[in-house]
Amino acid sequence: MSQTNLEKYHKRAEIAEREIEKLKRDIQLLQDSGLTMSNDMENVDTDVGKLEQENIKLKHRLAILKRAVEAESSKNNAVPSIDSNTLISIQDALSHLFKEAIIATYPDLPDPPVTIAIAGNPKFGDYQCNSAMSISKLLSAQGIKASPYDVASKIQSNVSPSPYVEKLEIAGAGFINIFLKQDFVKILLSSLVKTAKVLPPVTEKKRVVVDFSSPNIAKEMHVGHLRSTIIGESICRLLEYLGHDVLRLNHVGDWGTQFGMLIAHLQDKFPNYSTESPPISDLQSFYKESKARFEEDTEFKARAYECVVKLQKFDPEIIKAWQLICDVSRKDFQKLYERLDVKIIERGESFYQKHMETIVKDLESKGLLEEDEGRKIMWGEEPNVGVPFTIIKSDGGFTYDTSDMAAIKQRVEEENADWIVYVTDAGQSVHFQTLIKCAKRAKIITEKHRIDHVGFGVVLGEDNKKFKTRSGDTVKLSDLLDEGLRRAMQTLLDKERDKVLTKEELKIAQKSIAYGCIKYADLSHNRNHEYVFSFDKMLEDKGNTAVYLLYNFTRIRSIARTANVSQEELKKAAETNPITLDHPKEWKLAKVLLKFPDVLQKIVKDLCLHYLCEYCYEIACAFSEFYDNCYCIEKNQLNEVVKVNISRLLIAEATAIIFEQCFDLLGLKPVSRM
Ligand code: ARG
Repeated sequence: MSQTNLEKYHKRAEIAEREIEKLKRDIQLLQDSGLTMSNDMENVDTDVGKLEQENIKLKHRLAILKRAVEAESSKNNAVPSIDSNTLISIQDALSHLFKEAIIATYPDLPDPPVTIAIAGNPKFGDYQCNSAMSISKLLSAQGIKASPYDVASKIQSNVSPSPYVEKLEIAGAGFINIFLKQDFVKILLSSLVKTAKVLPPVTEKKRVVVDFSSPNIAKEMHVGHLRSTIIGESICRLLEYLGHDVLRLNHVGDWGTQFGMLIAHLQDKFPNYSTESPPISDLQSFYKESKARFEEDTEFKARAYECVVKLQKFDPEIIKAWQLICDVSRKDFQKLYERLDVKIIERGESFYQKHMETIVKDLESKGLLEEDEGRKIMWGEEPNVGVPFTIIKSDGGFTYDTSDMAAIKQRVEEENADWIVYVTDAGQSVHFQTLIKCAKRAKIITEKHRIDHVGFGVVLGEDNKKFKTRSGDTVKLSDLLDEGLRRAMQTLLDKERDKVLTKEELKIAQKSIAYGCIKYADLSHNRNHEYVFSFDKMLEDKGNTAVYLLYNFTRIRSIARTANVSQEELKKAAETNPITLDHPKEWKLAKVLLKFPDVLQKIVKDLCLHYLCEYCYEIACAFSEFYDNCYCIEKNQLNEVVKVNISRLLIAEATAIIFEQCFDLLGLKPVSRM
């Protein structure tokens, strides 16, 4: 469809809109006159009826025209030039192409379905358009008889020439098989190698706040927080890669009643805490002690409450004690973030104290708070449905709910967030649903904001029970990472890698495997499900595991090394040597690589990273098939390289580049030798 078509649609839409306006005026006139000329009421009614019918038809027509305009303009924006290393979304490109053809064929069909699927068998092309069956049904509902086959033929004849499509064939009951052109894929793969990177698909830039990790001061940082940290980090990486402006926030639990106990206990135990650093390295037992006192000792309890009040008023002495306590935890958290290469800014609940005071007044003045046995609560959508938020407790204190209301307002209004992502265990999903409803009711967020609660299931031990140490304690995260390191080294030694790698290389490989496998095990499971934490499983070198993928990657990179071709030489070779995709396994691998932007788009929709892991596994399998069937280098009996297939080395390199990008999004660190 051309620019003139677009203009034509605009014109037609304009005319229809004007006609509707005119009809509206006529109807009004008729109705007004009907009120005075009651003797002719019947005639007036039928005229109004007719005009209203006409109006409905025109509105329908207008909707169709508007859609055509929309399809046309998005097509004009969406198809990028093919000589860049920005991979195009082939799904989008084909959807646009067929949507256009379907609209041209059936302009009166409202919302025609456009379904593009990957073909299961190369005999039936690379992709398929499966819309003909449903369109045939829609037509027959309107009394129009057309077999799916006829529908498919008509659509096919209206498909414009495309730089992506070689040919179309109709098969079976009315499938349109789409055979892709190879040329644009060859160009894309070449430019990947030339620039050594893959640019993200073009996306509208958003300001995104990702609230993740968020452990609680003085309490255990448990595997749930580890999941939030790993998933959150990966979501941030993906959004940043797509070009969004991401604010990574650690909403640590650093405020509330428990700090009263902790501070009161600190004052008793270490009265010189302001001049000497007290040895509360084991903050957890310190917390337990203070809790026990709080429950038994009324004098202590009263003093603890006093401390909370003072803390919330920012009393300098109390703030000092509080900071001291927070620092102890903070150091622990930081160690973990460094080991896992996680970047995050701490902005805990305490940050919102002033904002909480403001939001409470705000909600009160809007009449959104309700008395409930001394508390002040707020309902989500409508009163008495679901669980309300407690905004003020009966003792006058604020709650987790209050701080989240204050935080969402601050993020929208001061951080200008368009999109907020919360990563916590699925157990908190009711909390976040209520938060979204309350924030809507309070007009803090509107339709233009996107809010996601990225929930996840619990981590289980190999006994399928909640993940615990043998003695039943919570597993310390640092112990868990240490154990990972130990096991990773054992795996390397079992494979006798110490005989091949230098000490330095061995260490790098150990970390890459240990942290990589912990992250990957988490990310590769559907986050909505619980998952069993098992070092044995995650360190397996077969199947969809980090170890398998990391080995696969090093193997790809080692091909060029064996052929004695450096990466620089590959870059140069890509300038002059064309890539060929004649072998079916070459073409199969190339098509898997081409899918990368579609995989990313799918993840952005529901923030499930296991799609990316499945994709990595698919790349690894397609590469293995390619490598087993297509010689990249040939050696003689003396194991000397006698022939190098440059095109295939380039395909391998393009694979490595996409693989590397995926690893980066998952937080995996591939190594060139392991
Ligand atoms: N500290 C909380 C917890 O450990 C998680 C906080 C999540 N973020 C939020 N804005 N509520 O469960």
